[in-house]
Amino acid sequence: MAVVSIIGHKGGVGKTTLSINIAAAITQALNSATSDKPVCLFDLDLRLPTITGILNSHPQKTFFDLFETLANRTYQVDFLQTLYQILVPFREYKEGNLPKESPRLLKSIAIYKNLNEKLFNYSNFEFGDQIHELFLMRGEIERPSDLRKKEVTQLFKRIDIKKFKNILREYESNAQPNIDEYISYIEEYGFAILGGEIPIIGKKHHRQRINEPEFLALFLEFIQKVCEEFGHVILDTPAGGVNHLSSIMNSIDQVLFIFDVSNTIAIKGSIDALHTFIDYYEDFYENYQKGSLSGLDKAYVDRLILAKGEKGVLDALANKKMGIIFNRCQTNKEIPLCLDQLREYLETLDKYEKYKDRIHLVGLVPNHKVINITNNRGTLFYDKDKTLSNRVDAIARSIIDSNVAQPTLAYSNKEILSNLEKRSKSRIGRTFSRIASSLS
Ligand SMILES: Nc1ncnc2c1ncn2[C@@H]1O[C@H](COP(=O)(O)OP(=O)(O)OP(=O)(O)O)[C@@H](O)[C@H]1O
Ligand SMILES: [Mg+2]
Repeated sequence: MAVVSIIGHKGGVGKTTLSINIAAAITQALNSATSDKPVCLFDLDLRLPTITGILNSHPQKTFFDLFETLANRTYQVDFLQTLYQILVPFREYKEGNLPKESPRLLKSIAIYKNLNEKLFNYSNFEFGDQIHELFLMRGEIERPSDLRKKEVTQLFKRIDIKKFKNILREYESNAQPNIDEYISYIEEYGFAILGGEIPIIGKKHHRQRINEPEFLALFLEFIQKVCEEFGHVILDTPAGGVNHLSSIMNSIDQVLFIFDVSNTIAIKGSIDALHTFIDYYEDFYENYQKGSLSGLDKAYVDRLILAKGEKGVLDALANKKMGIIFNRCQTNKEIPLCLDQLREYLETLDKYEKYKDRIHLVGLVPNHKVINITNNRGTLFYDKDKTLSNRVDAIARSIIDSNVAQPTLAYSNKEILSNLEKRSKSRIGRTFSRIASSLS
């Protein structure tokens, strides 16, 4: 499994466009020969997912369903399981099958006394009202013998524990999202897409949920499971990084920054985004090594360690690949300009030496009139326009083949430019200037 994040500093730099075409190119390059499920394109934009709409391919279930399922697991299942753990020893004691000094009974009384009663407000299930009533009596129940009181006995008559157990079973079985239901396939190319369909974060409940560590942990677990099923996962990562999903960045093998080089402000923004990522990455790595990760980051890494082993996690962090794809190039001139600015910026931060060999220059995509996301037609241009396909092929090859020689920031501008053009195989010099002149 290789997880690649396509990331950019703001809206409209071409993350979605390039993610879609890179997924198509990788799928074709691998030709489905290596595995049944070679490539998954994952729309991580929870605010405004677009991929399923653009490609007009709709999964059976949306992320809205996923969030409902995960919420069900966080709120209902745990809660119901706890109630069951309380009710069963209570009943056994009342029926004379458990002695009053039984540790199981005493433990269930302790849980009963301490459970957060507000949880009843979030849950709705058969016998919920009766069980809630039992909790409203907590003030009168201190020791096992109090459970023999008349009111409690009458209440227990109205709770069918067998039926309650069945309800719990049903909730448990509905709480595991089935990944296949959330995936659809782009038949023309054979890659899978996952995510989005409808805005999630805009919905009040879900907006709150995504900030809750328990809920987020389940969402990350789902993402991790998806990643394990595919040979390559391409993440269309929302603008401004991954916000609430920042932990994911640590399981990503390769981060590809889309540099919008169409104007100087966009270039500045792209450089700044790379710096922000480096800062985040360094903090995380340092805290990991010091053993001082906390909260969700720690929970997530602990799970990764279980899956990949300690060395695997450390290696992935230490060797995380970083690359740049220049998008919307119009002439060859903006590339050296952008490279010089980036070097200077890193130099000022004292980070140039550290990163000059780590930041690879992976691709160059021209500003091209064929590409047009607004009418959906030009979005999946791969295989439909030779020049552009060659450009994307070069990027795809560098993702799937670690032996492809890629220039780094330490190379000269001339070397970088000629390598990027040469790797696109076609008569790129001429074609490229032709595109540029046709657009100017
Ligand atoms: N190389 C290019 N040449 C011409 N148009 C392009 C190019 N790359 C992207 N575009 C166009 O720019 C617009 C924005 O692209 P896209 O939606 O892929 O960006 P994004 O980074 O995913 O944006 P968002 O953050 O809003 O999701 C689209 O209309 C797309 O067709
Ligand atoms: Mg997008």
